[in-house]
Amino acid sequence: MQPITLALAKGRPAKSTIDLLVKTGIQFHDFHEKSRKLVFYNDDRSIKLIFVKAMDVPTYVEKGAADIGIVGKDNILESKADIYELLDLKIGKCKFAVAGKKEQMPEQNQQLIIATKYPNIAKKHFAKKGQSIEVVKLNGSVELAPLIGLADYIVDIVETGNTLKENGLSVIEDIENISTRLIVNKASFATKSAEVQQLISQLKSALE
Ligand code: PRP
Repeated sequence: MQPITLALAKGRPAKSTIDLLVKTGIQFHDFHEKSRKLVFYNDDRSIKLIFVKAMDVPTYVEKGAADIGIVGKDNILESKADIYELLDLKIGKCKFAVAGKKEQMPEQNQQLIIATKYPNIAKKHFAKKGQSIEVVKLNGSVELAPLIGLADYIVDIVETGNTLKENGLSVIEDIENISTRLIVNKASFATKSAEVQQLISQLKSALE
C-alpha cells in the first residue's frame, strides 16, 4: 500500500485525535503536542503525519499536500476548500455563535460591526438574515472587541462558555454546531481509495 499523508490540526482536539488513532492501533511514538517537530511516522511508516495550523489543514488537503486532514468543521466552513468531508470524529465539540454585551440583537436594520476570526462564516450568517455587516478580522482574543468598542458583536467559537463569561459577554444567537471532521483530497479519494477507506473504517470502529 502507498503511504498516506495525514494533516492533523494543532490545537485543543489534537490530543483527543491522537488518542483515537491509538485506539485504532495507529501510533506515532515520538508525537507530543508540545514538540516543535512537524512530521511524524507511524510504526510501519504507512502514515506520515504532518502537524499544521488548524486553519491551514483544508488548504493542505485541497492542494493534495495531504491526502487526509483531521480538523474542526469551523476551519472547513471558513476555508470553503473543495474537499470531501467523510467522517465526524465527534470530538472537539463546540458551536459557532454570535455574542455580545447585550442579551439580543438590535431590532433596527443598522449596519453592525462584527469582529471575528471567521469572516466567511460571519458574512454568510448575517447575509442569510438580510443584515448588513462590516467585518473586523481578528486573529485571536476576539472577545475583547466589544469590550473596547472595536465591534458591536463577535462571531466566534464557544466551547465551555468560560471566555464569554469571564468577559461579561453572552451568546445572542447560535449559528452552527462544530466538531472535528475527517476530510479527504478528491484525487487521493480515487487514487488511494483502499488506504483512505481502511483508515476511515478503523476510525469508525474505534468510535463505536
Ligand atoms: C477559542 C475561541 C474562544 C474560546 C472559546 O479561542 O476563539 O475565544 O476558545 O472557548 P471557551 O468557550 O471554552 O472559553 P482560543 O482558545 O483558540 O484562543 P484565541 O482567543 O487566541 O483564538
